[in-house]
Amino acid sequence: MELNGTRVLVTGASGGIGQALVEQLCAAGAQVLAVGRDADRLADAQERFPQALRRVVADLATIAGVDAVAAAARELGGVDCVVQAAGLNRFGLVEQQDDDAIATQVALNLVAPMLLTRRLLPLLRERPRALLLFVGSTFGAIGYPGFAPYSATKFGLRGFAEALRRELADGPVRVLYLAPRATRTAMNASAVVAMNRALGVAMDPPQQVAAAIVQALRDESPERHLGWPEKFFARLNRLLPRVVDRALRGQLATIRRFAHSESEEIRS
Ligand SMILES: NC(=O)c1ccc[n+]([C@@H]2O[C@H](COP(=O)([O-])OP(=O)(O)OC[C@H]3O[C@@H](n4cnc5c(N)ncnc54)[C@H](OP(=O)(O)O)[C@@H]3O)[C@@H](O)[C@H]2O)c1
Repeated sequence: MELNGTRVLVTGASGGIGQALVEQLCAAGAQVLAVGRDADRLADAQERFPQALRRVVADLATIAGVDAVAAAARELGGVDCVVQAAGLNRFGLVEQQDDDAIATQVALNLVAPMLLTRRLLPLLRERPRALLLFVGSTFGAIGYPGFAPYSATKFGLRGFAEALRRELADGPVRVLYLAPRATRTAMNASAVVAMNRALGVAMDPPQQVAAAIVQALRDESPERHLGWPEKFFARLNRLLPRVVDRALRGQLATIRRFAHSESEEIRS
């Protein structure tokens, strides 16, 4: 899709990937409806792109927040593109995660995109062509120790995107799913950054991920996974999961050590 003059709704617009994405979309001539909770960070972006950007402050973990975003899109007269990038990741072994942390990850990463999509589809269908892009994760293809609830939400999101793509195949709305690998944003606690270093896991700059999202919108690419060897392991996990079991078994002691250090940091 040509982005110049296109109206794009972006959730997670105040986050690391979202801010870079908003900047690149505005630079490409798009009109952006930027959604986040942090009004100040959204205000900064609005100061830089006063003509191109409108903001909506909403908590997407609530129905009222989802309704407010859908209402803003309606008031604008509809949107051509929706990028759902809001997300939350709590690193920790399952026994270390409290009920609230698990429920909030599911509410924000999985339930909110489905509820928002349901509300926005009538608006998107009015367009001759429209795109819905979901930001997933490598952990939506590889269940990873220390990220079980997060992995579950991203597996779910990928399944939702795939089913919806098939459901809408004969209409104007295209459904895209893009899975970044580890990215240098505030989402990753310092223990995760240290663990990635210890395990030799590469972390991309958010600008690079934002550029990949922009490219996926331009190409209307249905599913894209970022990073090598992550792309390879995602495929291997589908074909030969026992091989990946063994590889991750070898990382388990390191993952546990960092999970314990993260949980002590949260407690102190
Ligand atoms: N960073 C990574 O390593 C990585 C890797 C793979 C995939 N991803 C995915 O990429 C997407 C963006 O992540 P990021 O790295 O940019 O994370 P981030 O910097 O932590 O940003 C998260 C975004 O989600 C928003 N958000 C959090 N809770 C919310 C709520 N209750 N209601 C509405 N918005 C809420 C935040 O808004 P406020 O700040 O305004 O609260 C922020 O805009 C996520 O879907 C994430 O799962 C990230």
